[in-house]
Amino acid sequence: MDDYLTIALAKGRLAYKTMDLFNEIGINCDEINDKDSRKLIFTNDALKVRFFLAKSPDVPTYVEYGAADIGVVGKDTIMEEGRRVYEVLDLKFGKCRMCVCGSDEAKELLNHHEMIRVATKYPNIAKDYFYNRKNQTVDIIKLNGSVELGPLVGLSDVIVDIVETGSTLRENGLNVLEEICPLSARVIVNQVTMQMQTERINNLLERLKEHI
Ligand code: PRP
Repeated sequence: MDDYLTIALAKGRLAYKTMDLFNEIGINCDEINDKDSRKLIFTNDALKVRFFLAKSPDVPTYVEYGAADIGVVGKDTIMEEGRRVYEVLDLKFGKCRMCVCGSDEAKELLNHHEMIRVATKYPNIAKDYFYNRKNQTVDIIKLNGSVELGPLVGLSDVIVDIVETGSTLRENGLNVLEEICPLSARVIVNQVTMQMQTERINNLLERLKEHI
């Protein structure tokens, strides 16, 4: 391996916010802010830092295997993927909540611990919540997006999904029924990197902390 520090970012809004933060501590890569570019890897040779953009569920994978030393990704993805990485810092942006949502009638089904169908992009989080925290047996149906459709078209009774402003729910006549946990962007670190380059990583984390 070379002595570059490799940082994996979750493509999209989170990546732009993360780059703003890195810019504030003097680590910049101009090209990464070009929204029209299809480039995936961006290098700052002077600082020996390289960033790459990946689909968010893949960020913990790159970090676990050491293809990236550091990753920045949502807490939802970290929980869902369950990778062996160190979660070291809450960046306090990208704040939202993981919730069980549905219609008012579905609330009754939840309260009476009935066998319900749960549509979600996050089957592991849903399973952990219903099976381990609520001791409720449910039928979990994996979807890949627009999960709010589930209850609207009769696929499921409720959904487990991210709520940010709540407008998607409101516009589709659904409510938050139960809150599972708060979410935000987190920094994760490869376990070997943390041991072998403790000082470099801690120094970076300290500088980031000053700008949160
Ligand atoms: C997320 C989430 C909700 C929505 C919540 O979807 O799954 O649908 O945002 O935001 P709100 O509370 O501000 O309305 P995303 O836009 O990531 O797309 P997806 O439905 O394809 O997952």
